[in-house]
Amino acid sequence: MQKIRAAITAVNSYVPEYILTNQELETMVDTNDEWITSRTGIKERHILKGEGLGTSDMAVPAVEGLLKKRGISAEEIDLIIFCTTTPDMPFPATANILADKIGAKNAWGFDLNAACSGFIYGLSTGSQFIESGKHQKVLVIGGDKMSSIIDYEDRQTCIIFGDGCGAVLLEPTTEDLGVMDSILKSDGSGRVYLHQKAGGSAKPASHATVDAREHYAYQEGQAVFKFAVTNMADVAAEIMERNQLTANDVAWLVPHQANKRIIDATANRMGVGPEKVMVNIEKYGNTTNGTIPLCLAEWESQLKKGDTLILAAFGGGFTWGSVYLKWAY
Ligand code: UT7
Repeated sequence: MQKIRAAITAVNSYVPEYILTNQELETMVDTNDEWITSRTGIKERHILKGEGLGTSDMAVPAVEGLLKKRGISAEEIDLIIFCTTTPDMPFPATANILADKIGAKNAWGFDLNAACSGFIYGLSTGSQFIESGKHQKVLVIGGDKMSSIIDYEDRQTCIIFGDGCGAVLLEPTTEDLGVMDSILKSDGSGRVYLHQKAGGSAKPASHATVDAREHYAYQEGQAVFKFAVTNMADVAAEIMERNQLTANDVAWLVPHQANKRIIDATANRMGVGPEKVMVNIEKYGNTTNGTIPLCLAEWESQLKKGDTLILAAFGGGFTWGSVYLKWAY
């Protein structure tokens, strides 16, 4: 029997209209465009404004555009994996809310929370449902409304993050294409450096937690940076070695966009030149689960069938991982 692989057959993305520039941030916290640009590579990020709008509201246009591109209806979707750290609500899952909003009546779904590595985890998880023959059409969505958990008085974190969402469709193929391999890792002891203190079961939200600003993301930037820079580069190198890939074989590195310096270190470790690295951090900042599908959507027209892509991410948890993908169209 021929091996079934999971191929990405469509990709699309959405970012909200409002643009928060470094110049505007200068009016909010003690920072400046020169510092942000040189330390992170970020110039601006998009912010979802509007009462009652959540992450699913960015996923709706991203997925509706994707379905249109692929020429299929929402009823054909079997499974929705919604990778997010900022679900619309603690429960039900944003996957359920999205299914209702787009009319995916025959789908089941769940949210996957692996912070910035979520999309890598989701792609790997979704591909198993295709490879097993269980499902024919799996949506993997990566999206976050980071502005909902960012403290705009904390200059270390507020300059990095932005809002955005991307989605891919996975379908079976018997060609030698699609998700070829993945390496997923985690180390929960890293949670001390990057987390949201309150709003979970250990510390439910209260007036006191809000007063202490504990409903916002907390990050010890320098510590996270050190782990990110080593682990993201290591895991990308590991997946190349395991699959006997050299830098020449790689058409594109698709890195999580957390900091341009982390991206550069990963590319250097892989021996891949800047012309092969997808970077759009200057426009969107760190959209957490959104970064990798936002890159895939932006570069879609330049991708060729059979191109070797290495995806790599590092994030809160700690979580990190890499996917080796052969572009299928
Ligand atoms: O998405 C996955 C998980 N997240 C990451 O991968 C993020 C990893 N971390 C980072 O990207 C970086 O650590 C940051 C961008 C958050 C911070 O950059 P850094 O180069 O590590 O800065 P730092 O924390 O070492 O601070 C250097 C200096 C400090 O001043 P002194 O003590 O040297 O006088 C900070 O107070 O820069 C100061 N600083 C700022 N200055 C202007 C910190 N934030 C700012 C700011 N504007 N926004």
